[in-house]
Amino acid sequence: MILYDEAKQTFHLRTETLSYILRIYPTGHLGHVYFGARIEEPFEIEHLVPEYKIEVGNQVIYHEDDRTFNLNTSQMEISTYGKGDYRDPMIHMRFEDGSRLANFLYQRHEMLEHKPQFPEMPEARSLASEPIETLKVTLRDDVQHVEVDLYYSLFLEANVITRRAVVRNGDFQEILLEKVMSMNIDMPNDDYDLISLDGAWINERQIHVHPLRSGLIRIDSKKGVSSNDHNPFIAIKEKNADENKGRCYGFSLIYSGNFEATAEVSPHNILRILMGIQSFDFFWPLKKQAQFVTPEVVLTYSHQGLSRMSQNFHTFVERHIIRPDWQNQERPVLINNWEATDFSFTEKKLLKLARTARRLGIELFVLDDGWFGKRNDDSSSLGDWFVNRKKLPSGLEGFSRKIKRLGMKFGIWVEPEMVNPDSDLYRAHPEWIIRHPKIAPSCGRRQYVLDLSNPDVRDYLVNAISQVLGSAEISYCKWDMNRNLSDIFSPYLTHEQQGTLFHRYTLGLYDIVHRITSAFPEVLFESCASGGNRFDLGMLYYMPQVWTSDNTDAHERLKIQYGTSLVYPLSTMGAHVSNIPNMQTLRQTPIESRFNTAAFGLLGYELDLNRITPSEKKIIKEQIAFYKHHRQLFQFGRLYRQKSPHASLDCVWMNVAKDQSEALLGVYQGLEQPNASVEKIPIYGLNPKSTYRVRVRKQYFLLSLFGDLARHALPIRLKANGIAFHILNNRYRMPVETEEQVISGSALLENGFVPKQKFIGTGYNASVRLMGDFGSRIYHFSRIEEPDS
Ligand code: DGJ
Repeated sequence: MILYDEAKQTFHLRTETLSYILRIYPTGHLGHVYFGARIEEPFEIEHLVPEYKIEVGNQVIYHEDDRTFNLNTSQMEISTYGKGDYRDPMIHMRFEDGSRLANFLYQRHEMLEHKPQFPEMPEARSLASEPIETLKVTLRDDVQHVEVDLYYSLFLEANVITRRAVVRNGDFQEILLEKVMSMNIDMPNDDYDLISLDGAWINERQIHVHPLRSGLIRIDSKKGVSSNDHNPFIAIKEKNADENKGRCYGFSLIYSGNFEATAEVSPHNILRILMGIQSFDFFWPLKKQAQFVTPEVVLTYSHQGLSRMSQNFHTFVERHIIRPDWQNQERPVLINNWEATDFSFTEKKLLKLARTARRLGIELFVLDDGWFGKRNDDSSSLGDWFVNRKKLPSGLEGFSRKIKRLGMKFGIWVEPEMVNPDSDLYRAHPEWIIRHPKIAPSCGRRQYVLDLSNPDVRDYLVNAISQVLGSAEISYCKWDMNRNLSDIFSPYLTHEQQGTLFHRYTLGLYDIVHRITSAFPEVLFESCASGGNRFDLGMLYYMPQVWTSDNTDAHERLKIQYGTSLVYPLSTMGAHVSNIPNMQTLRQTPIESRFNTAAFGLLGYELDLNRITPSEKKIIKEQIAFYKHHRQLFQFGRLYRQKSPHASLDCVWMNVAKDQSEALLGVYQGLEQPNASVEKIPIYGLNPKSTYRVRVRKQYFLLSLFGDLARHALPIRLKANGIAFHILNNRYRMPVETEEQVISGSALLENGFVPKQKFIGTGYNASVRLMGDFGSRIYHFSRIEEPDS
């Protein structure tokens, strides 16, 4: 709901849980009043905004009419530099006379019952079932004849507001935009912390907490992609807020290219947050009567901690970002051949892998890199999107048919944005890459980046990739992108347009993915950029899931998936079980923990299933059956995070069904601690009026029979503890545990869940749980009583 109070000159945007209030100052500037938990009318502005009403030394007074009003100590909704606001501005532009002084004042507003669309880039989708109210406030610089429209849209179900700015030039002059953020919000700094998701390849989206002190924190990317250095997201939280209590604000940008987010605390303790397209190396000439549209920022607020903030984001992503035909659609369990074969495979080898996969219950076979041109390593053929018949004699068509005959779907890998110097495409079109004509371009993974600002390049790619996707029965496509941009110069663009290249690359990418994904709506696209180098809401708009990381080590993945879940729902995170020692860390983790981690995501397997033991195959078969049985809950449940692997080596999280009828709890430990203290796990999200049956997922603890302990001592102790054994072959003993409790929802919510005690090397307690290093468990909670009405 949007309320306009003409007397007070305020706009009050309200959802069920949050309020956002802005005002028009007597000067015409647009100010920020309040963002936080929903408040009821009436209110007085001075009761909400701590105003600095004193004229002090050094300050620049905006106008002699009111000597107490200065922009530097005011809370603004849009800011520029030059009239006394010395904080980083939201908008900075250069006019024909060389001036950089812009001053935007309120002109008019509209309260719309729909959300205006800007088709050049991804944005929050409107739903037929949920009218999206939008406030549009237009501000104008009368001297320079430039207007800015600020858009605020309300998403009631998700408790989210989106914001964006559109700059419109008049017919007076051409202007040069040097910085245009999507939003500016100024609010009192309440001794807050800022959270960012930062990292690197195979170490993506690690959670970092920065205390906000006087000065500026900048989270950004200059790599041409949103990047794994920093995700286009920040949260602001009270110091003592944690996963399930306290106030926090989340901001996430729907954009896949260079971005920036800054949090600046002024000397008067006002916190300014800006978010938008990266201003470094950004210059956008705006012709007369042209407009520049910024990407949307998603804002949410929670007074119940970070889990609730994430749930708001997840609801928003699942309803307003993911394309409607993939919303709430269960995703298949897949086998990917990359870690199994690398580039060296034959059709025979792939079919053998597929046959075993099928027997274990896998539904989709994904053929990764190396099927095209003459690509046997990463030095050649990107750009030449035709099948290598030496590897696949019956072509994609014949191979996909064979996969289909096995009862599986078929998926394929492509990396359209890139070209190898050793490729027919590059030999034919050396002018199609991003580079300066006089400077030798730098390679990354032995490849160049195609210039997506050039429409000929885009048409070629749409055509080439459409031919691949149309050439066989393909139901899944992994869209990879394996290097950052460099040598930023476009042979296609004019001299004046060179500063637009980063943004034009992103818009060009959106153009091709829009055309391809709309032409193949039945294909499930998974975006990837060396794993998670471009995990953002922009890509998710077109491709409903992302390969989260090239790191498949179960222990590291907990941290990556946990961090990723701050913004992105589990239904967007590709997560695979791979072999040990792990390819990236050389770590050995139990096969059950590899599953227990990947199951809280979109499950896949990425290992040679023909090189594992029969016991491991049996285990995998049971894992897949369990996952399929609970797939809806794993992929689309409401996530509560209880224990962060960023704070210790342990992790606890829980997915609760939206109707509270069931839940899945994942409990993970790092290193085993001898004689550890007893555990009690906090539980959230269940119905206090229901009773739940709690069962541990049946899982195996592989003990090698070679070794005295496993042969004699340990089995004796385990037997004494009532733990049964299965001897599956003569290499392993596999103790199987059972655990079951019936307990009320209120007891779980008030007191937590008490699992069996862990095995501690001796055996008086007949009820223990074997964990070991990197051990884990999944518990299933199912409601056995209807709640009282
Ligand atoms: C990087 C991806 O993240 C991997 O999963 C794999 O597809 C390779 N590229 C193939 O080159």
